[in-house]
Amino acid sequence: MKATMEKLVNLCKGRGIIFPGSEIYGGMGNTWDYGPVGVEIKNNLKRAWWKRFVQESDNSFGVDAAILMNSRVWDASGHTTSFTDPKMDCKNCKTRHRADNLIEAHSKGAVNPDTMTNEEMEKYIKEHHVCCPKCGKSDFTPIRTFNLMFETSRGVTEEGQNKIYLRPETAQGEFVNFLNVQRSTRAKVPFGIAQIGKAFRNEITPGNFIFRTIEFEQMEHQWFCKEGTDVEYYEEFKKKAWDFLVDIGFDPTHLRYKDHDKLAHYAKCACDIQYLFPIGWSELNGIHNRTNYDLSRHSEFSGKAMEYLDPVTNEKYVPFVVEYSIGADRLMLAALTEAYDEETLEGGDTRVVMRFHPAVAAYKVAVLPLQKNQSAVAREIYKTLSKSFMCTYDEAGSIGKRYRRQDEIGTPLCVTIDFETLEDNTVTVRDRDTMEQIRIAAEDLPGYVEKIIRF
Ligand code: GAP
Repeated sequence: MKATMEKLVNLCKGRGIIFPGSEIYGGMGNTWDYGPVGVEIKNNLKRAWWKRFVQESDNSFGVDAAILMNSRVWDASGHTTSFTDPKMDCKNCKTRHRADNLIEAHSKGAVNPDTMTNEEMEKYIKEHHVCCPKCGKSDFTPIRTFNLMFETSRGVTEEGQNKIYLRPETAQGEFVNFLNVQRSTRAKVPFGIAQIGKAFRNEITPGNFIFRTIEFEQMEHQWFCKEGTDVEYYEEFKKKAWDFLVDIGFDPTHLRYKDHDKLAHYAKCACDIQYLFPIGWSELNGIHNRTNYDLSRHSEFSGKAMEYLDPVTNEKYVPFVVEYSIGADRLMLAALTEAYDEETLEGGDTRVVMRFHPAVAAYKVAVLPLQKNQSAVAREIYKTLSKSFMCTYDEAGSIGKRYRRQDEIGTPLCVTIDFETLEDNTVTVRDRDTMEQIRIAAEDLPGYVEKIIRF
């Protein structure tokens, strides 16, 4: 693994992948903006996920629910009471920390704070003289639990204000639409509801780039099934989640399953797939057996029976749910880490190359005329390819420098237009990974690109 967080942050800024949020105002902690290259990569990751879990699934359906939901949703889901972090302030420098993070970092992962009560965490921090990572002092306030949901209010007059929340997960948008989707599609259990959308959490984070941010996108898939089949589907989704990552280019030795030691209030069993990030093994996605907790709670709080009537047996029941949830930004960081490579070339130069799966790469093709008098033909080729694929065009600088720029953003193919192109309409195609070049007819390019981006 050659990527460090520092190298990734610098490359992302320099190459238009990810910029610090509100940078000209000095930034805002844990917010990041995707640039022209980054937005393409992230969209490709989302598209790949949707293709696998909606398009290629024979019984899964997509929704795009509102971010702002009736506050009762969060009472029913348990978020208003249970979605909290144990926070403590350093009395010396006033920095706020998560007590569990302090313990994890201090013990280098040997102690699992998930199994500790607040009192046990306070005791550990005192007895082990755990220090503030900012100022080095060990003098903290007692732990207080903070709800992670961002609050806002609706209403034009102050008296009329009503507290509402920015959703902390997309999942509830899928649960509240269970009946709508089932009835409108006439889906039979088991079936799935998927969604990709923004979620917001007022996290205190140690600032690991886009690993944990306060605004992020989730890709969530809820599989509604009959009690008794849930254990089998849980195992199936563990495998599907793993296979998806491998199919979009992840080395399986950089992935591992990790069962949760402490289960969320809704879960019967849960596990993560962890990835070997530059910060070490950490959660990339979660698979949870949520039982019928969510639908039962929504029945109770809304008064609507969230039941399924089996058309064959006439049996009525509240389905169990197996959830698969992955952060699009967390996946982006993993994909950047996985793709990053530094290669020493003949002659001693080093090239940085992002070895993304072609389906994930921002641009599939870079069109590069060697000389100015080839620009018109090159533009025509670019125009034709752009109808089917995201492409880029570059005629500035030496061809060597142009190749390096494309390597750094992971463009799988560079198509060079030269004097021969003007004579016989053939082009040179350079492969990003091997740097080998072949000569093909320009008209064969779309088919060639199509083949390499399939996954
Ligand atoms: N509906 C279940 C749920 O939200 P979670 O484990 O809290 O479960 C699921 O979140 C995934 O969302 C995580 O595995 C991670 O990929 C992503 N995620 C969670 N919090 C995040 C944050 N603050 N920043 C970026 N990604 C986050």
